[in-house]
Amino acid sequence: MSINYSERIPNNVNLANDRALQRALEHWQPRFLDWWREMGPSDFALADVYLRTATGVDAQGWATYGAVKMPDYRWGIFLADPVADRTIGFGDHYGEPAWQQVPGELRSQFRRIIVTQGDTEPASVEQQRLLGLTCPSLYDLRNLFQVNVEEGRHLWAMVYLLHAYFGRDGREEAEELLARHSGDIDKPRILGTFNEPIDDWLSFFMFTYFTDRDGKFQLKSLAESGFDPLARTCRFMLTEEAHHMFVGETGVGRVVRRTLEVMKALGTDDPAAVRAQGAIDLPTIQRYLNFWFSSSLDLFGSEVSSNAAASFANGIKGRPDETQYDEHVCSDATFEVDTPQGAETVGLRNAMNEVMRGAYVKDCEIGVKRWNALARRTGIDFELTLPSPRFRRSIGAWADQPVDPAGRPIGREEYQRRLSDWLPTEADRAFVRSLMQRVVAPGKMAGWIAPPDRGINSLPVDYEYVKLAA
Ligand SMILES: [Fe+2]
Ligand SMILES: [Fe+2]
Repeated sequence: MSINYSERIPNNVNLANDRALQRALEHWQPRFLDWWREMGPSDFALADVYLRTATGVDAQGWATYGAVKMPDYRWGIFLADPVADRTIGFGDHYGEPAWQQVPGELRSQFRRIIVTQGDTEPASVEQQRLLGLTCPSLYDLRNLFQVNVEEGRHLWAMVYLLHAYFGRDGREEAEELLARHSGDIDKPRILGTFNEPIDDWLSFFMFTYFTDRDGKFQLKSLAESGFDPLARTCRFMLTEEAHHMFVGETGVGRVVRRTLEVMKALGTDDPAAVRAQGAIDLPTIQRYLNFWFSSSLDLFGSEVSSNAAASFANGIKGRPDETQYDEHVCSDATFEVDTPQGAETVGLRNAMNEVMRGAYVKDCEIGVKRWNALARRTGIDFELTLPSPRFRRSIGAWADQPVDPAGRPIGREEYQRRLSDWLPTEADRAFVRSLMQRVVAPGKMAGWIAPPDRGINSLPVDYEYVKLAA
């Protein structure tokens, strides 16, 4: 097989002249395509989809739009432009020149962190692979596929690092990234949330709002890394990630807007009446929110973590937006962590997961405020809220603690009894699934979601964003 590298694989890593990298990719790329055909949105392989493709890192190149069949998508390899004389911005190596190669003593830690990030990218494509069959509009179908191909590109980004900087064991890890599958009993994806099924569009929007936002914070912390190629790769990925969270925020917002319209027309907030009109009642939306938010919080790891401390000390992973802090070594500072036994003061380095989780929660609140503003404008008295970070945790100090969404510890029996008030029940999921009927006439929307304010790349909302194969 021969590949015209710059045409087939747009890149700014000099792939055309890098024989070793070419050889590694020649082996991996056909397997990636097999995986895409089998585990990706395979029912739409022949559809023409209006997608953006990154063909460069500058303002013109990073979002080139046009109709593409997804298996022909040009998954490229891009690093953000280098920062001249970049130095390490945190930890014990603060102020030293950033590394252009992986330091030998940190090799396994870097490899593990790249593999863990890389694993989430194809996982989400697998989770979302059947959603296209029930799309609420062509506009949404196109957005789903945009997210899918970019998660595919993020996998490429991590595989590039494994191939280019980790030799044989990096190549083996790259194969494994295609061998684990979301929800597989024998070979699941590494992180819990990425094994949860996403079989309705409300879950998809919650996932892109809450779980892709976890991705944003992971990428932000890796964009601070002392290993410069990793930092630059992640900086470029963040430009794409922003669209995924946009899909989530506007998606949930449009569901809420439609529900409010129905409530207003009916003059009632009775969930059964709202459902009878084919909209999703606000308490159900709140339960979906509770589910995906609490699941995503676990992705940040334990409140107190020697691993997190070592990652920070060693220059592997900084805090998101490290420059916003006054002090970057953090060897003496302390941090107060909330535990079931009370507040616990620990070394700041050990609390880095919690610092990151706190920044994430703040960022999550922005969208919730916007959704609530829609309700206020309609004159409807209802607020969506983020549950307490103590609620329904599976990892860390609050794991398996019976706590209500307000953060109050309660009896285990009461917790079990009331879970159906707080999390989607089987009946909720069945109802939401019953609404998932495919709508593919240009400009038409399913009845449970309001149209978007505008289309993609200045095109009208009723543009035929996906031309389905006859
Ligand atoms: Fe991603
Ligand atoms: Fe994403």
